[in-house]
Amino acid sequence: AQLPLIDPFARPITYLRVSVTDRCDFRCTYCMAEHMQFLPKRDLLTLEELDRLCSAFVALGVRKLRVTGGEPLVRRNIMGFFRAMSRHLGHGLDELTLTTNGSQLARFAGELADCGVRRVNVSLDTLDAAKFAQITRWGRLEQVLEGIEAATRAGIRVKINTVALKGFNEAELFSLLDWCAGQGHDLTFIEVMPMGDMGEEQRLDQYWALSDLRARLSERLTLTPLAERTGGPARYVRVEETGQKIGFITPLTHNFCESCNRVRLTCTGELYMCLGQEDRADLRAPLRASDDDAPVREAIREAITRKPKGHDFDYTRQHVAGQVGRFMSHTGG
Ligand code: GTP
Ligand code: 5AD
Ligand code: SF4
Repeated sequence: AQLPLIDPFARPITYLRVSVTDRCDFRCTYCMAEHMQFLPKRDLLTLEELDRLCSAFVALGVRKLRVTGGEPLVRRNIMGFFRAMSRHLGHGLDELTLTTNGSQLARFAGELADCGVRRVNVSLDTLDAAKFAQITRWGRLEQVLEGIEAATRAGIRVKINTVALKGFNEAELFSLLDWCAGQGHDLTFIEVMPMGDMGEEQRLDQYWALSDLRARLSERLTLTPLAERTGGPARYVRVEETGQKIGFITPLTHNFCESCNRVRLTCTGELYMCLGQEDRADLRAPLRASDDDAPVREAIREAITRKPKGHDFDYTRQHVAGQVGRFMSHTGG
């Protein structure tokens, strides 16, 4: 048996996020530039190669696999990949899941459920169709709502991810909350992170600290902090009036790096040891050098010894430009 992956700060690495494509059918303004230069298709690993890499991680003790993008469901034959990964469920892997914009969920929900997907995270920043089209640059809200319904019908639990954006969804705080409570979806708010070079002035204007968002919730509702952590960065509260649970992902106002358990694999075979750092390891070279997986596992182990203590995001500095140059879509959040 293999020794588990432990990083230099004694954190066990049991969670892999794999970005299967850098493409997306939307262009959320905080995530991508309007005219994104996507990777040439020849640079992508095949799904078989991604399978080999992910399987090597499972052999090294990874228990949770989250498929991300871009938008994972726009990659050709992605169901073949989910099907392949599902063979690890119960054999090393506890959870197979994805983060999606929901646009293709109506089509794939049934198959995903068949592949053992029990939960899905769907990005939704507004319930107003015009604003939805604005933030995604052209997305159709209706399509996403249908996707969410299809997932629910297929027996998949839905967590809604809402990026808190000042001057954009501030006024919808309570309507988003009510809608999620009514539909039975969990809800997590996320602080917008400075990723990708897309006019940092504007993003600073959009930054809405979740401490403020939470204070506004408290004016009308009784929030009880919950001790539970689900192995992710979110902290949770319970709304006493409704029993609803709300998550907060606050990389800027409350760093959660000390309990980090994850690394990120891109669709070109680069392994990022931290979302908020540039350092990465190339796994494609050892992967393609031979059919033997031992050198791949060695490269993974070596990479884990370089995992940094945490990110350096900081909105208190005068300039946030260039903190992390790549776009969020590159590593899938
Ligand atoms: P879990 O897999 O259950 O932890 O879900 P999650 O909420 O972390 O995953 P999701 O893909 O829905 O991501 C929600 C937000 O959390 C995105 O904006 C991610 O970029 C952010 N996020 C996830 N992991 C990390 C992390 O390790 N560091 C930072 N700074 N942000 C993260
Ligand atoms: N800051 C915070 N969250 C972001 N996401 C995309 N870009 C950013 C950003 N700059 C979120 C999406 C999705 C998740 C994977 O990451 O809304 O829910
Ligand atoms: Fe696409 Fe998600 Fe980025 Fe929006 S946040 S552009 S849906 S990858």
